[in-house]
Amino acid sequence: TNRVFSGVQPTGNLHLGNYLGAIRNFVGLQDTHECLYCVVDMHAITVWQDPKELAANTREVAAAYIAAGIDPKKHVIFNQSKVPAHAELAWILNCVARIGWLNRMTQFKDKAGKDREKASVGLYSYPVLMAADILAYRATHVPVGEDQKQHLELARDVAQKFNNDYAETGGTDFFPLPEPLIMGPATRVMSLRDGTKKMSKSDPSDYSRITLKDDADAIALKIRKAQTDPEPLPETVEGLEGRAGADNLVGIYAALSGLSKAEVIAKFGGRQFGVFKPALAELAVEKLSPITGEMKRMLDQDRSYIDAVLASGAERANAIAAPIYSRVREIVGFI
Ligand code: TYM
Repeated sequence: TNRVFSGVQPTGNLHLGNYLGAIRNFVGLQDTHECLYCVVDMHAITVWQDPKELAANTREVAAAYIAAGIDPKKHVIFNQSKVPAHAELAWILNCVARIGWLNRMTQFKDKAGKDREKASVGLYSYPVLMAADILAYRATHVPVGEDQKQHLELARDVAQKFNNDYAETGGTDFFPLPEPLIMGPATRVMSLRDGTKKMSKSDPSDYSRITLKDDADAIALKIRKAQTDPEPLPETVEGLEGRAGADNLVGIYAALSGLSKAEVIAKFGGRQFGVFKPALAELAVEKLSPITGEMKRMLDQDRSYIDAVLASGAERANAIAAPIYSRVREIVGFI
């Protein structure tokens, strides 16, 4: 069977990269796969979160899932901390993963910064919890943006080593090796302020990202201020090379319109940014405002609905994970 698992951290500033690189793809898998979409609150606290904001941000991600079009009746939307198998399996997998593997994780190096001694232990073993998220459901496919690729390779290594280490007690092929699904033209949306850095929730500049809370004016303003160079758009896609800011905006236009980058260039090649940026802003508003509007409506007026979705999702997630975790206990030799 095909089972999809993915997650988004409730750390605020949910942005266009999260939508185009991940959430929109989650929506597309619903007809063909059984899907679990998680709000990974336990991952969020690897960096300290204000408790009130964590709760609000958890509802925000759940609302984004629903507003984007994930059907919570057919598929499972829940928050990680409600299903104990994530933490329990993570412990076992912490004992399977090797320190050397974690030392190679580039995201840890980026997030921990210069003073690595001061990073939380949770931040260091973050990828192991992520492996547990996926393997707790024996998920086969994981839709993510490009930046999660290394973490998924680690999840595969952990699954493989568990299967080998416990081959004698039933480990052989117990965990499927999860396949990353890195799909579409926007697997790495870049910052609007610096086309060489990825768009991120933690960038101090609000102008670096379009968030799912921005209204039409904010979207237009941020696109107008987006960093570009003085040249008009090139006549060919190859002409975007070395022009990170321009390349990023063309990529965003492509992703939002469903056109290829070449088709976008066919339409706007040779035109000035003064023409292209307003067209992009209009497209972004057209595509995003139904989603952001519905998110806002749910968060302002229908919080109890969001909470009910999360509660029922947690029950259903637990019903899948608990028997798998029982088997893991036996395989490991816990009585
Ligand atoms: P997070 O919360 O940082 O991001 C959520 C999703 O958005 C994608 N993404 C992007 N895609 C394109 N361009 C960008 N600029 C951009 N920024 C973020 C991410 O790749 C991700 O798919 N570790 C994960 C959460 C997680 C998870 C999991 C994912 C926890 N457990 C299990 C899959 C399976 C994370 O931090 O995502």
